[in-house]
Amino acid sequence: MSRVKFRTLDDVDLSNKKVLVRVDFNSPIDSTGKILDDSRIKAHAVTLKKLVDMKAAVVVVTHQGRPGDPDFTTLEEHASKLSNILGINVKFVNDVIGPTAINEIKNLRSGEVLMLDNLRLVSEELLEAEPETQAKTHLVRKLSPHFNFFIFDAFATAHRSQPSIVGFPVVLPSLIGELMKVELEALEKSLNSNEPPRLYVLGGAKVRDTLKIIEYLTKRRVAERILTSGLVGLTFHVAKGGRAGKKLLKFLEEKGLTTLIPTARKLILAGAPIDTPYDVKVLKEDGSVAEEPINVADGIPVDIGSYTILMYSELIKDASVVVMRGPAGYVEDPRFRTGTEELLKAALSSSAFVVIGGGHLGAFVKEPLRKNVHISTGGGALLIAMSGEPLPALTALEISTKKFFGGEL
Ligand code: 3PG
Repeated sequence: MSRVKFRTLDDVDLSNKKVLVRVDFNSPIDSTGKILDDSRIKAHAVTLKKLVDMKAAVVVVTHQGRPGDPDFTTLEEHASKLSNILGINVKFVNDVIGPTAINEIKNLRSGEVLMLDNLRLVSEELLEAEPETQAKTHLVRKLSPHFNFFIFDAFATAHRSQPSIVGFPVVLPSLIGELMKVELEALEKSLNSNEPPRLYVLGGAKVRDTLKIIEYLTKRRVAERILTSGLVGLTFHVAKGGRAGKKLLKFLEEKGLTTLIPTARKLILAGAPIDTPYDVKVLKEDGSVAEEPINVADGIPVDIGSYTILMYSELIKDASVVVMRGPAGYVEDPRFRTGTEELLKAALSSSAFVVIGGGHLGAFVKEPLRKNVHISTGGGALLIAMSGEPLPALTALEISTKKFFGGEL
């Protein structure tokens, strides 16, 4: 965690100022391209509403998915959802750094909100580099001259060292938004809750990222047990030398996961305390769904099986800290949500300090929460911070605070 006290919206008079706000509206998208869950948009609305009330001219930027992935979409629907949530007309421009976007930014008046299109339409946005290097990108050089302040509210992207995250703070005085403030406070509390046994429940499809996180957790010995599910679980199953049917192996290959097996194996050999699923639900060629022991499972894996749910739930019950990230199955299809729902239920009904991270998982927790449960909008960012690694966004905000507001507070 940073020792610098970042400036907030309460520290500066923003009326009649033009502000660039980096949010993270990256949301689960269904097969028709529609937003499945708008929790992240709602979570940022507090910051955006406050800026509108302060009479700032507000330009909102976010990414959605990655080029080549089915959830890489334009942001028209995000802007329309934001309009409904804020109860004002949010303008949308189908451009990021071109003349149309610049023109709209120039014409934006105080109290108005404009949303630019998906930041990842600009290829530079996918490259990671140091803040000073990112400050020299076209994205930062084209947009920054039109703003008085940069506001970072996208906690969920804080582990990425991309231009829109670490480049703007180098050239613009930067503040943190309301969501970022809440996330940092909760993170501090989570970092202080470190009584063993600390159990990490890691699923989802971001296997490469998760391997990095497991490397950090293992290096710093901050997890007594790591229960894997989703594509992460399958990768570790094979890395452990576990058998699997031809179709399941082909599925792993098609997802580009076989190349990650050696890394997963190295982590196991380095002492990563990994548990893998005992059984899985698979989708068969004829469209039926079967629950099979993972060693003989054959078909497209869609969820963990009942025995795995039972075993994992028992372990969760006895933990002091439970950190969860990523769904256990293909939750975009309601038939394959059981594993995810049951593991969440086990965590929420335990007496552990529970931290739930990431857009996909957070969307499943609706009921009012008991004490000592924190739902973060961040997935990778949260886990990296929990593992003790520095977050690039915080490093960049430190640079900005020192440069524009004169040192540490
Ligand atoms: C997330 O959902 O974890 C953030 O939006 C970051 O997305 P990314 O993994 O595509 O960078």
